[in-house]
Formats: sequence, C-alpha cells, structure tokens
Amino acid sequence: MKNIKFCCLNCGNSLKNNLDSLNCIECNKNYPIENGIYSFIESPHYYTDLNKQDMIQLIQDSKENGWKNAIYNRFHDKNPFLYNIILDETRADWQYMLPLNLDSVALDIGAGWGTISMPLARNIGHIVSLDGTKDRLEFLKVRANQENLDNITVVHSNIFTHPFGSQQFDLVVFNGVLEWVGVGQGDSIDPKEKQLQALKIANDLLKDGGYLYIGIENSHGFKYILGEPDDHTGLKYATYLDRQDANEISMKKLNTNYQTYTYSQCGYKDLLEDSGFSIMDFYYPVPDYKRIEYIYKLDNTNVAEFLLNQLRFTHPSSTIKERVLDLELVSNQFNGLANFPASYSIFAKKGGPSK
Ligand SMILES: C[S@@+](CC[C@H](N)C(=O)[O-])C[C@H]1O[C@@H](n2cnc3c(N)ncnc32)[C@H](O)[C@@H]1O
Ligand SMILES: [Zn+2]
Repeated sequence: MKNIKFCCLNCGNSLKNNLDSLNCIECNKNYPIENGIYSFIESPHYYTDLNKQDMIQLIQDSKENGWKNAIYNRFHDKNPFLYNIILDETRADWQYMLPLNLDSVALDIGAGWGTISMPLARNIGHIVSLDGTKDRLEFLKVRANQENLDNITVVHSNIFTHPFGSQQFDLVVFNGVLEWVGVGQGDSIDPKEKQLQALKIANDLLKDGGYLYIGIENSHGFKYILGEPDDHTGLKYATYLDRQDANEISMKKLNTNYQTYTYSQCGYKDLLEDSGFSIMDFYYPVPDYKRIEYIYKLDNTNVAEFLLNQLRFTHPSSTIKERVLDLELVSNQFNGLANFPASYSIFAKKGGPSK
C-alpha cells in the first residue's frame, strides 16, 4: 500500500494518518475517514444518475446482494447504456498505451461509479479515486471491497480544494469530467477558468514525466454538426456556437446557464498549453471515449481509412452514423479528420521527452 501525501486545507502542513481520521499536528484540524472514505469538502454540484433516495437504496442493495446484482436489477432493462457504462471495465483500456507498472500511483478525478478506477487498480500500484459527490464514492467503496481491491484510496473532495501534496502521481485522469468541473461554481464564474484551474492542479500533482489522460467530447464532432444533441445538455448545435449564443439557447430552453464547455482540438491544445503541458497526443476512440472499441492516433490517415471503411461497409448502422462515417472518410482524404471525431482520448505528458 503506497503512502499518499495529504496536506491540511487550513495550513498546508502534512497530515498524519490515525485510524479513523487524518490529523494536522500544526493547527489541530481533523479530517474524518468515514466508512473508509477520506472526507474533505463536497463539490457544489451534486452529480448523480439517480435521485438521492434511489442512490442510497442502490448502495444498500449493493451491500446486501452484491454490487453487480444491484446494478443488474436497477439498470439492465431500464437503462442498458448506463448499465454498460457502470459495468464495462474495458472503458479504461487506454491504460495499456501508457508505461504504467506496479509502482505507478494514479489519481482518478471524478471517479463516479469507479469503472475507470477498478481496472487501473488491477494493473498498477495504487489509485486514489476522488469525487465531489459522496454517494457515488459510497458505492465505489463497496465495489472496491467486493472486488478485493485494497490498493484504492477513496477521497471525497472538490478538486478545487483538494488535499494532496504536489508531484506525487504518475497518472492523473479526467474521464468524462473536465467538461463538468465548471458546473455549479456560480453563474459569474467562467467555466473555462475552472477547467484551466483543474488542469493546472493536475499538472502540479503529477511527477515530472507523469501523464495526464483526458477522455472528452469534441465540440466539432461531425455528429454534432449533423444535429445530434450535445451529450451534456441535450441541446442541438450548442457545442460549437459562440459561448454567449449557446448560453442564450440554454437559458431559453433549460432555464440554466450553459456550463459544460467542450472544445475543438485546437481549443484543447490551447487549454493544455496554458496549464503547463507541452507534449500531447490526440487519439480517436471509436465510437467514443465512453466506450472504446477501437482507438487510433489522429495523425495516421492510413489506419483511419482502413478502419473507417471497415466500419462503413461491415457494420449495419443508422443513417446518421453512415453519414458521419462518409464525412470522416472524405475529411481523412484531405488530412482533416483530426478536427471532427466525436470525442478525443488525449494523452499529455509533464516535462521530459515524448513517449
Ligand atoms: C460523467 S461523471 C464521470 C465518471 C467516471 N469518470 C467515468 O468515466 O465513468 C463526472 C464525475 O465528475 C465528478 N465531478 C464533477 N465536478 C467535480 C469537482 N469539482 N470535484 C470533484 N468531482 C467532480 C462528478 O461528481 C461525477 O462523478
Ligand atoms: Zn493544519
């Protein structure tokens, strides 16, 4: 079991691990460890796929009947998409593209149901699963216990007030999270500023030579241009509009500000450079980063053509998917596919030579 370095939110001093709490010997502040969860500060946005009461029921059911049975009973028929999102550990298969080993320590920011943390824990030394929503971590902890994974430290904290010492992780993960960190931070706060802040925090927490992995939608994906709704708000066309226009549409249709910003490839490059990352690779996870069946580097037009043809002519699919594939094939011929995938798997490295 690796030692994770925790620091006091009050005075910055290193925290001492007692059995049921972390203590600051400098200012005497106490941080409880509740049901194995290191508890700091709730993030302002309560994120959940269920209402609170159903979530609590699901956690109880997981404890009594096993987490897999609980998930099966609740989601298999009613929400097969979410059922797969929760169950499918191959969602973290991008980990095999990184030089990780049994000494590696990772931080999974916005760990949610734990579907990225669990497969990482099977292959590396230690993982810290952080989330701002406590109920999600209660489930994650039950899941980790039942999977006999004892190399997971579960931390309840808002990423913006995290308790970690600098430069201790070999890998920091934002899988489906960077777009959410601007939510609930107050209407006067620019979501982009929060996203930048989150990436700077990731940079600070990484060791020199460590990796950042981001799985996220591309605001300019062909599917959005063809009218598929944004995955976060359900709004059509909003992702690539001017932010102010998107905000007006969001206010009109949803009565709330537009805060789940996604970007184009150039936008992500700028964000990463502005937060201290200079080395980065963009991959196309197919069909998208939420469930990766294939993954290829976006500078390889030959591989792209092979795979796109394979998908276009062998997979029966809906009209919109066929049209997306046709556009991807054409853009690939002109060396432009990198701008239009549905989502990106982004690998960035802190310092050192490229992998
Ligand atoms: C779409 S879920 C992604 C879950 C998981 N990474 C996966 O891929 O299955 C986004 C998660 O980010 C967490 N989150 C959002 N903003 C956060 C913040 N400021 N601090 C900590 N966690 C946050 C939410 O609570 C939620 O669990
Ligand atoms: Zn202190």
